[in-house]
Amino acid sequence: MRTPVIAGNWKMHKTLAEARALARAVKAGAAEVSHCQVVLAPPFTALAAVAEEIRGTPLILAAQNVFWETQGAYTGEISIPMLQDVGCGIVILGHSERRQYFGETDETVNRRVKAVVKSSLRAIVCIGETLSQREAGIHHEVISQQLAGALDGLTPQTSWRIILAYEPVWAIGTGRTATPEVAQEVHAAIRNWMAGKFGGETAQAMQILYGGSVKPENIDDLMRQPDIDGALVGGACLEAQSFLRIVHYHC
Ligand code: PGA
Repeated sequence: MRTPVIAGNWKMHKTLAEARALARAVKAGAAEVSHCQVVLAPPFTALAAVAEEIRGTPLILAAQNVFWETQGAYTGEISIPMLQDVGCGIVILGHSERRQYFGETDETVNRRVKAVVKSSLRAIVCIGETLSQREAGIHHEVISQQLAGALDGLTPQTSWRIILAYEPVWAIGTGRTATPEVAQEVHAAIRNWMAGKFGGETAQAMQILYGGSVKPENIDDLMRQPDIDGALVGGACLEAQSFLRIVHYHC
């Protein structure tokens, strides 16, 4: 009953010409897909070009971040109306790279979440523990704290605009994927936390994606887990062939 989501986070990759080529190739292999929602998140500079390439298909355009104010003197920032204008349906929030390198905190993620749920956009909200937190055995506490912070003020009525992405920091870009069992255990705990906060119905409807070294080789096993509803893919989405294999997972 939860529609799976396969999202490609292009991060800081692709010129305009490269972005168009990748979008076209993904479109050729995924335009007919109906078993999952396919999301492309190119850098801001390529949003308009990718929007043009995927127009009229079920592919969904996403941005990698957004500011909470609608306009004003905020040099370097991008607003929700700008993303809507360019054709985005989704925005990624609180990615661990934003937290690690650009000072993003649960509080600033929450300000973005609050702004997004008031708009027509949906948000992919990223959470996940670091290696030292996992080794210290405190990953469940860390994740609960991130959820409480990022989703503060959210209601069951607005929660459908949120997609969660569990991305253990130690698995991002490292080639070290969480095993399907480890990921499933955390996904079930996240759903349990959601049930406690927003009720069972909301928790059951929530799409929870896994991210961190998702590849053609491991997507099938991940998607077989009952609480894994899709993937947020970094490195393996930069080439159409590997991304399309992930989109066409078997389970
Ligand atoms: P990766 O990145 O697939 O390259 O590990 C995932 C992400 O950061 O969303």
